[in-house]
Amino acid sequence: MQTEYQVVDRKEPADSVLAAAAERLRQGGLVAFPTETVYGLGANGLDPAAVAGIYRAKGRPSDNPLILHIAQPEQLSELVAAIPANARALMNKYWPGPLTLVLARKACVPDCVTGGLDTVAVRLPDSAIARRLIALAGVPVAAPSANTSGRPSPTTAAAVLDDLQGKIDMVLDGGDCSIGVESTVVDCTTPVPTLLRPGGITLEMLQETLGEVEIDPALGGLEGVVPRSPGMKYTHYAPQAPMVLVEGDCAGRRKVLCAQVTAALAAGRRVGALVSAETAALLPPSVVAEVYGAAEDAAALAATLYTRLRAFDGAGVEQIFAEGLAEEGLGLAVMNRLRKACGYHIIQA
Ligand code: TXA
Ligand code: MG
Repeated sequence: MQTEYQVVDRKEPADSVLAAAAERLRQGGLVAFPTETVYGLGANGLDPAAVAGIYRAKGRPSDNPLILHIAQPEQLSELVAAIPANARALMNKYWPGPLTLVLARKACVPDCVTGGLDTVAVRLPDSAIARRLIALAGVPVAAPSANTSGRPSPTTAAAVLDDLQGKIDMVLDGGDCSIGVESTVVDCTTPVPTLLRPGGITLEMLQETLGEVEIDPALGGLEGVVPRSPGMKYTHYAPQAPMVLVEGDCAGRRKVLCAQVTAALAAGRRVGALVSAETAALLPPSVVAEVYGAAEDAAALAATLYTRLRAFDGAGVEQIFAEGLAEEGLGLAVMNRLRKACGYHIIQA
């Protein structure tokens, strides 16, 4: 399959290009498109054959359900059986934006979208390209991140092509995604809404609107997240080289990370480091350093996290050390992705 590549203006996307992409979606094709979080791999969410194509192209396990993307809040009631008051409050405050709501589904939503669950995840993205594309397609668009399953999510069109060239119909290039990590997923079917995946809308923002928010146990302390079957469930976002995450306070993790890097270099290994500017200044020049910005700048790290993880693959490093940061604001989402990316190989400083 030839993958068509089209550049689209992110602020004022031309309808001519988007109409062609929407036509591909209506005909059952696969179109990758930018959102404010990451690039999505879109298909007609009401067409099981088209949705099957997503799983095939990504090599994604079929029990991992997909998010349906809509262009208008009014479309939600076509897909879900009920909209509880707390879901309504979140929609009013954070849509369009990086927030996905899990709600009881209607029968029109195919099983292949929900992984057989009686709930469906829905999101109204903020990206003008995404919203116009979905509106022109006239159907809800199922879209996981547009990467090969297990690889870091794509935040550029080039990263999409690296993984999916020849496997999908079209890529719309709208430049770099601004947030850089996936949407927040909140289950609104529980008595108190439950945070299933931290993302662009922070826990603090959810608490401000809802008062109380449950946190899925899988996101809790380290004991809660130790994989029961290593290598199976938790191979997300991983770069090719093994990665170790150093957690702790600023001074502690900096000291431990530098010591680890020094030891690995002494053992003759080619070392990569994902670090803040302050920590990078302490590392020897032979380290392949991906420097994201000032210490604790979670937004800067989020925006470039996946691109930096992918860059290590190109640099041929044999061992990567990543510096953690505080789990506040966007830091909660960033640490969640870093822990998965390192397969829970964590050193507590
Ligand atoms: O930012 C995003 O959400 C991006 C862009 C493209 O919109 N999409 C994305 O999709 O990250 P994906 O497929 O990579 O992640 C979807 C997440 C998964 O963790 C999945 O398990 C969860 O949403 N999910 C989907 N449907 C669900 C449901 N009915 N109940 C619970 N979790 C669900
Ligand atoms: Mg994904």
